[in-house]
Amino acid sequence: MEKLYEGKAKVVYATDEPQVLRIHFKDDATAFDGAKRGSIGGKGYCNAHISAYAFRYLEKAGIPTHFLELRPPNEMLARRVRILPVEVVMRNIAAGSLSARLGIEEGTDLPFALLEHFYKNDALHDPLICEEHIRILGLATGEQIAEVNGMAREVNQHLSSFFSACGLILVDFKLEFGLDSGGRVLLADEVSPDTCRLWDKETRTKLDKDRFRRDLGKVEEAYQEVLRRVRGVHG
Ligand code: TMP
Repeated sequence: MEKLYEGKAKVVYATDEPQVLRIHFKDDATAFDGAKRGSIGGKGYCNAHISAYAFRYLEKAGIPTHFLELRPPNEMLARRVRILPVEVVMRNIAAGSLSARLGIEEGTDLPFALLEHFYKNDALHDPLICEEHIRILGLATGEQIAEVNGMAREVNQHLSSFFSACGLILVDFKLEFGLDSGGRVLLADEVSPDTCRLWDKETRTKLDKDRFRRDLGKVEEAYQEVLRRVRGVHG
């Protein structure tokens, strides 16, 4: 079927059903806006499976998502949505760009879950933006932003529990939302070690894409370990 879109980590195909898309998870990995490129063996398989477990868990908790079904080894069927060009990052512990921008030492507990918006725009390098920027750029309405923010905070509660049961700390993560044909806001994209920072609860070992970004080694193993734990607890 027709390829509709190819991103850095996924390819989206049409299906016979106009409102259903097939999403293929690639092993390709990029970081720093595509400046660093590589491949992580088995990543597509792990991310498709981990995302499927997470979306099923969130649906059960009452979060509307685009997820329909897993298509092993590394694809899923999802509802067609129009992705809002706003990435929502939720942070429980300081790390990454927050630590770099504000000088908060990585690993510092935040006094409350921090919600940030980034403009999904490669040419501008996905800048940090505020709600008034979103409205001025017409990326979403005030009502949609409020709904997305409320959902993101709920998702943080649920995913923190989901990963905690696996002995993992959800440090931070990125979400994308989309509008279905009826204008309903759905959680979309993926939930995986590409889009979440996950640290082992006991040792604080990084089990996510930072192993690739920072050349920490044992990259494949980290993705496999997250899937092994998630499957063991939620499978
Ligand atoms: P950051 O600290 O680099 O801003 O990343 C925050 C979270 O968002 C982290 O869990 C990784 C995730 N993320 C993505 O999923 N895609 C991206 O392009 C970036 C920069 C971060």
